[in-house]
Amino acid sequence: MLIDLRSDTFTKPSAEMLEAMMQAPVGDDVFGEDPTVNRLETITAEMFGMEAALFCPSGTMANQIAIKCHTQPGNEIICEKNSHVYIYEGGGIAFNSGCQVKPIEGIRGLITAEQVQQLINPEDIHKAPTALVSLENTSNRGGGACYEFDEILKIKNTCVENSLKLHLDGARLWNALVAKNETPAQFGEVFDTISVCLSKGLGAPVGSVLIGKNDFINKARRVRKIFGGGMRQAGYLAAAGIYAYEFNYGKLAQDHQHAKEIAEALLKKDFIGKMLPVETNILIFEVHGHYSPVSFAEKLKKLNILVIPISPTQVRMVLHLDITQQMVREVVEVIGHL
Ligand SMILES: Cc1ncc(COP(=O)(O)O)c(C=O)c1O
Repeated sequence: MLIDLRSDTFTKPSAEMLEAMMQAPVGDDVFGEDPTVNRLETITAEMFGMEAALFCPSGTMANQIAIKCHTQPGNEIICEKNSHVYIYEGGGIAFNSGCQVKPIEGIRGLITAEQVQQLINPEDIHKAPTALVSLENTSNRGGGACYEFDEILKIKNTCVENSLKLHLDGARLWNALVAKNETPAQFGEVFDTISVCLSKGLGAPVGSVLIGKNDFINKARRVRKIFGGGMRQAGYLAAAGIYAYEFNYGKLAQDHQHAKEIAEALLKKDFIGKMLPVETNILIFEVHGHYSPVSFAEKLKKLNILVIPISPTQVRMVLHLDITQQMVREVVEVIGHL
């Protein structure tokens, strides 16, 4: 039994999800004629209380389209220094949008309104005009950390006062909603745009959705085409997302519980150092003493458990839909014997 804790992107569609995909009515989505894509977009927009949505092939593309549509070349974007849009999207902010980033050192990937306020450039010909603030919730490199909603509201006020747009990389927003008992509509009210992933905790094989106002999504649809993301009978993929909303969203709390059980087992070990608080489905912890992160990952691999050493001192484990209770028990037992 292989237990793959490298990422929640490794989930494979269940037989029921595949069946839903096979049964999906489809059409040419570039012509706006795929009924299943249209349904996914409508359901998602309505869930967030926003006007419109756009199905995208990946979270990266959804974020990059949002950034492109919110900015002009030469603008500056404020985000946390470890945010996905900045460090894991191939330099896309510069490549696609011709913008530069003012990275902020946050706490577990989360930034504050006060920090944003301090980094907004004044009106000055020497400075790049600040155009956009991009938040990530949950924060991947922050170990699945969630924002306090009050702080998000404060950041929104700062954005409004300074005419900045506010984007949310919500690849794992679902996990935050479950952990903090929040609703999509709360987020839809605050953000100009939100990208959500179907292919992480929700277990769909492909796809993300970008949500915003009608005008914005019309523009985003055009940029998606330019970026090569206009898909044809994409309803087969969208159907997986619709299935996931109905059947997999309710299972996220289980992943969070599994993460806590594994954390408890790890913290009993003297070779485990500082662990980031476990709020959702991600564990990030230091490994020292007789293991390094690499040798720890290699040892686990020999025992059929896959994890990722994400820095010279840290290892990451991610819980997801394909990790059963029995697998968690196995991981806890293996850790106990290390
Ligand atoms: C926080 C965050 N945003 C965006 C993405 C990008 O998603 P995709 O892999 O679908 O491009 C990821 C991927 O892991 C992520 O963790």
